[in-house]
Amino acid sequence: MEMDLKKIGLKVKEHLEKIASFTATPGEGITRLAFSLEARKTVNYINNEMKKIGLETAEDYAGSIKGRINGVDDNKAAIIIGSHYDSVKNGGNFDGIAGVICGLEIARLVKENNIKLKYPLEIIGLNDEEGARFGNGFFGSKAMLGGVDLVDLHKYKDEDGISIYQAMDEYGLNPESLKGMSREAKTIKSFIEIHVEQGPVLENNRKDIGVVEGIVGMQRYIIEIDGRADHVGTTPMDMRVDAMEVASRMISGVGDLARSEGNGTVATVGFIKNYPNVINIVPKKVQFSLDIRSRDNGAIERIANKVEQRLTDLSKEYDTEYSIECKLSEYPVDLDKSLIKAMSEVCEAKGYNYQKINSGAGHDSLFMAKYVDTAMLFVPSQGGRSHCKEEWTDYRYFAKAVDVVYQLLLDLNKN
Ligand code: GLV
Ligand code: MN
Ligand code: MN
Repeated sequence: MEMDLKKIGLKVKEHLEKIASFTATPGEGITRLAFSLEARKTVNYINNEMKKIGLETAEDYAGSIKGRINGVDDNKAAIIIGSHYDSVKNGGNFDGIAGVICGLEIARLVKENNIKLKYPLEIIGLNDEEGARFGNGFFGSKAMLGGVDLVDLHKYKDEDGISIYQAMDEYGLNPESLKGMSREAKTIKSFIEIHVEQGPVLENNRKDIGVVEGIVGMQRYIIEIDGRADHVGTTPMDMRVDAMEVASRMISGVGDLARSEGNGTVATVGFIKNYPNVINIVPKKVQFSLDIRSRDNGAIERIANKVEQRLTDLSKEYDTEYSIECKLSEYPVDLDKSLIKAMSEVCEAKGYNYQKINSGAGHDSLFMAKYVDTAMLFVPSQGGRSHCKEEWTDYRYFAKAVDVVYQLLLDLNKN
């Protein structure tokens, strides 16, 4: 069957342009943090659009939104297609949400073509993949499979000291319902995620599609250096306990730790806070994040160990103290080989230019792949830009992605 790619591309555009208005930072990119007003508007929009197509919708206790088409035998495990709807601060309008919208358009094709599915189909918009508000990550997918407990809801707090528990409560969800509302992995046959590449590889190689083979592992930390506030003019250099001097010496070495590992290993300090942050007070406390990623878990571990060793050494040298809190730790994963093969075969049959690719970004698929057969399809990102307002992907690529995953869905329903 010939697909009307133009029509699909326009549909995706229409949804994404509407959803772009649900941002806390108009004109400064997309800011759609977990349990925010913008998240609520986005979920309501998706819910409505799902209903219009005829999906049975439900919002789960973690704030993810799901639309279902029953299978011929509804006891069978479901095929889930989707991604996340939250964003980073001042991010782009494609990361995550484009995959949810592509899923929606795949469901529309199933309905319009009156396809009888052997397996139930669920389209999902997952909540809080980014961890941009609470520093955690993969909240919606983890919660769906029972990987979050009540302790975590109290432990993770945003910049204003609001815990996930409080935020859920204010958003209208019942955090106490966490227990018992997750699902077993065996109720999911496969998880398929369409996502923008967020890097330059596909564009440079002039490809339409990337079939993802593996995703980096990642560890995230919040590190705090404790020093002593003093007068900057009167405290001699050998008498001060300067948290900033220690933090800056630590931070400046992080890039080289990653470079010395090579093989695409990266390490980043993306967030820093200085207290009291005043020009004439010796810094009393500095807090910063550390995000380490690699396809080689050994490289991640080595960097984390070296950071800890360096913190210990610097603390002795400067008489400061430090604490290090791990916010996230995920192993690298390989995605499902038979789905990679099936997706590649669809790309070939349709004559799309595709290549196998690895992901340096984290995705819900990173978590899902540990429990469920998982596949990911990337579309090119203009200039490789992402996590910034310049993020852009031409809509024709999403149309091709919808075409491929729709066909893959039909193929999976033959088995
Ligand atoms: C999410 O996009 C991440 O890779 O941090
Ligand atoms: Mn992202
Ligand atoms: Mn994403």
